[in-house]
Amino acid sequence: MNRGSVKLAPSILAADFARLGEQVSEAERAGADRIHVDVMGGHFVPNLSLGAPIVQSLRHVTRLPLETHLMISDPDAFLEEFAEVGSDSLLVHWEGNDNLHRTVQRVKALGKRVGVVINPATPAAVLEEILQDLEQVLVMTVNPGFGHQRFIRTTLPKIHRVRQMIEKIKPGCDLEVDGGIDAATAPLVVAAGANVLVAGSAIFGEGDGVTAAMQRLRAAVHQ
Ligand code: DX5
Ligand code: ZN
Repeated sequence: MNRGSVKLAPSILAADFARLGEQVSEAERAGADRIHVDVMGGHFVPNLSLGAPIVQSLRHVTRLPLETHLMISDPDAFLEEFAEVGSDSLLVHWEGNDNLHRTVQRVKALGKRVGVVINPATPAAVLEEILQDLEQVLVMTVNPGFGHQRFIRTTLPKIHRVRQMIEKIKPGCDLEVDGGIDAATAPLVVAAGANVLVAGSAIFGEGDGVTAAMQRLRAAVHQ
């Protein structure tokens, strides 16, 4: 992976929600490429987070693409709502979706970028038939549901396999990783083939602020 082309997607899950607009603007000024919004509904993952009103508010404070990671049991029921309030891409899980092709086509029909997410225990091979329809693949490097978890190292060979599939089937498709990404793990995932890094606590949870945290992540990737 060309290290210069690696993109950063700050995850607002770790932001201070009382200062969300400010923190997202700071991330934008510091060179964020997109903003990652984690939607959790208490069933697909054992946690609650936020919904469409947050995306709607963020749409007014940033020009960056807003990507919405849907960790909910019935994503189809919410695609239109998120598209309407300003999500630029919708990321849906392979797990628990018996009609993934239909979901993917629905996102496309809404005119949005579409990505499929796979959990740590899900093999890369499940992407083979759907990959040609995607703009993005997201490989979870923790089990979804919570921020600030430890990076799962056994996902590294899978990231490499997904990169090989992308080069063969859909060059140009983004390969994003999400969970436990910091200055220590970023170089590993980039070496394995990731070109978009989601980071929550490593960007919004650092004592010296968003700008310094993003500089550290970039420096780690460019070493
Ligand atoms: C976890 C979410 C992640 C989370 C990552 O379910 O999908 O986007 O915000 O947080 P960190 O970077 O703290 O692991
Ligand atoms: Zn996420």
